[in-house]
Amino acid sequence: MDKFLINGPCKIKGKVSISGSKNASLPILAATLLFDKPVIIKNLPRVRDIDTMLNLLKSLGSKIILSKDRKTAKIINKKNMKTFASYSLVKTMRGSILVLGPLISKFHKSKTSLPGGCLIGARPVNYHLSALKKLGMEYKIRDGYILAKSNGRLKGKKINFPKISVGATENSIIAACLARGKTILKNCAVEPEIKDLTKFLSQAGANIKWSGRTCTIIGVNSLNQTSHTVMADRIEAGTFCVAATLAKGNLQIKNLDPNIINTEIELLKKVGAKIKTLDNKIFIKGPDKIKPIQNIKTKEFPGIPTDLQAQLMVLMCKSVGKSSITESIFENRFMHVAELQRLGAKINIQNNKALIEGNTKFIGAELMSSDLRASVALVLAAIVANGKSIVGRVYHLERGYENIENKLQKIGVKIKRLK
Ligand code: UD1
Repeated sequence: MDKFLINGPCKIKGKVSISGSKNASLPILAATLLFDKPVIIKNLPRVRDIDTMLNLLKSLGSKIILSKDRKTAKIINKKNMKTFASYSLVKTMRGSILVLGPLISKFHKSKTSLPGGCLIGARPVNYHLSALKKLGMEYKIRDGYILAKSNGRLKGKKINFPKISVGATENSIIAACLARGKTILKNCAVEPEIKDLTKFLSQAGANIKWSGRTCTIIGVNSLNQTSHTVMADRIEAGTFCVAATLAKGNLQIKNLDPNIINTEIELLKKVGAKIKTLDNKIFIKGPDKIKPIQNIKTKEFPGIPTDLQAQLMVLMCKSVGKSSITESIFENRFMHVAELQRLGAKINIQNNKALIEGNTKFIGAELMSSDLRASVALVLAAIVANGKSIVGRVYHLERGYENIENKLQKIGVKIKRLK
């Protein structure tokens, strides 16, 4: 298994271009199952989770023609598609559950593996299932699979999500596009990735309207041929902003609409970063002294994203005082803490709150990645640590960060892949 060797502390300076969003690409790719006509998706990030979704679509019968740089996919569905999403594909990525909505909506049956738990929490799919059931899906769980069918087209309904869920909102919107009549979804997640999904579907003729956290969909008979460019990855952008703030860096971050990370920019300004934004660029300079912040709390969009929690924790370790971070989305998302402690961090966990001492002098060490965002946090810590660090299991990073080592090398990070 590949590892990264990082020789810190590193100076960060230069330009970095943000790739397409993984979390926007996944539901958009899943939604292509609704189409009879070809669809072109541009600006896909070249990361492992996208390969997994493309393989899943291929296994269902989609023909996929990739451009040379593998960032544009033309997707053409067969007349007779399969409806079986196997455990071997679904287990590697929870986002695979997003094929359930389109399969049941378009083909009225599916056998989709349950994704199972993961390190950051139990992550059930009960809201996905109950919403689809309201739209007319019948299902039972057998041998780890969701065996689902519907009696013809789904039927529009009013659904009030008991809790805000990104995936359940996406699955329900996709399924409702071809349902008969009107679906009203209340208490929806409104992450920019979901708005990108509905932009894509609307371009293809779906009838979708938003009002706050309510999404109204009037079903159509079919969707038209279309092409869509995926939005920039706001978590990648946020991660590079944290890197610049952490390492007294000076970065130009390109290829994104800065508005998608307004909350993060405001937080980093409070920490002391100097930030200027243009239409599709961010200029960010890290401060000499990082100010601590009390009570950072992860929240659904437009709050601080849970996917940036681990990176912000590294930043708070290097701040000049005490701070705290509360994780309110996932119950077990502090696996990076033990690894950061091995570098010298002083962090105390009380339930879902991390109390962080600050003024940490990280000393390089050998570290183990546990999940996608935790592993990038370890890389950030290694960048500002004294001496050599080795970050193991980099495949976690490859699931969601395109070309991370090249992007980091270009801005001055001494990082090398060990095979
Ligand atoms: C998506 C993102 C992930 C991000 C998360 C929260 C993708 C591919 N992944 O994950 O990167 O960290 O949003 O912003 O876009 N829950 C249930 N039952 C359900 C569904 C969710 O209890 O049926 C719970 C989850 O365990 C979690 C919370 O609801 O505690 C939010 O999860 P959700 O928003 O659904 O996250 P994902 O869509 O899995």
